[in-house]
Amino acid sequence: MHLLIPAAGSGRRMKAGKNKLLINLEGESLLYWTLKSVFNSKEIKWVGVIGQPSDKDEIIKSIKEFGNKINWINGGKTRQESVRNGLSSLPKSATKVLIHDGARCLIQPSLIDKCVSEMRDNDAAVLAIKVTDTIKFVNKHHYIENTPDRDNLWAAQTPQGFSVRRLKEAHELAVENNWMVTDDSSLFEMLNWPVKIIEGNPLNIKITSPLDLKIASLFLNDLN
Ligand code: CTP
Ligand code: MG
Repeated sequence: MHLLIPAAGSGRRMKAGKNKLLINLEGESLLYWTLKSVFNSKEIKWVGVIGQPSDKDEIIKSIKEFGNKINWINGGKTRQESVRNGLSSLPKSATKVLIHDGARCLIQPSLIDKCVSEMRDNDAAVLAIKVTDTIKFVNKHHYIENTPDRDNLWAAQTPQGFSVRRLKEAHELAVENNWMVTDDSSLFEMLNWPVKIIEGNPLNIKITSPLDLKIASLFLNDLN
């Protein structure tokens, strides 16, 4: 299986003054830990890291342990654009691909394997967990509009797996129609293409704010 790692963000909400994936966690970069889990999955044969050219030297240095197993791809202004660049850099032989955010360093290798096996029968599948909070739909004046039924609410994570041909087509249509999304499965939804949910793990958080970094340090060593 081929896997793309979007790593070209700036980490604005982390307020670290640099790409959050370069923050040191237990002696290694955050991105190093993501890749360590990826390479502990037996199923992943090709990995593309999508990063900003200005971060390239520092990123490559921080993940040098994985050496020539990494394919570097230049990222774009948005995550969507970064993924699009990643898709066009995949080898011709790639028929299915997993997209996994660099910022999810607590992914367990067994969950990556689960996504790979779901991709045998699906053109799109995403890891997600049932929400435990009651979620409110709130208007811009901070008043509640409604409360969706929690039984139907899932929080999407990554990896998200796709047929390469279909995901490329979805990204092309997004450019034509000016669709802006924060994950790839949203494009499939806009096209009414089916997306399978794979039950994930609440530990697989996206490292976004300083609190998440503390959580990551606590659990990093429990993954394998
Ligand atoms: N990402 C990317 N290219 C971009 C923006 C984001 O590849 N132009 C990646 C990030 O590096 C991250 C993933 O997409 O691994 C999820 O994005 P997010 O958590 O929002 O990270 P940042 O955009 O870096 O953080 P922020 O939104 O707080 O600035
Ligand atoms: Mg972002």
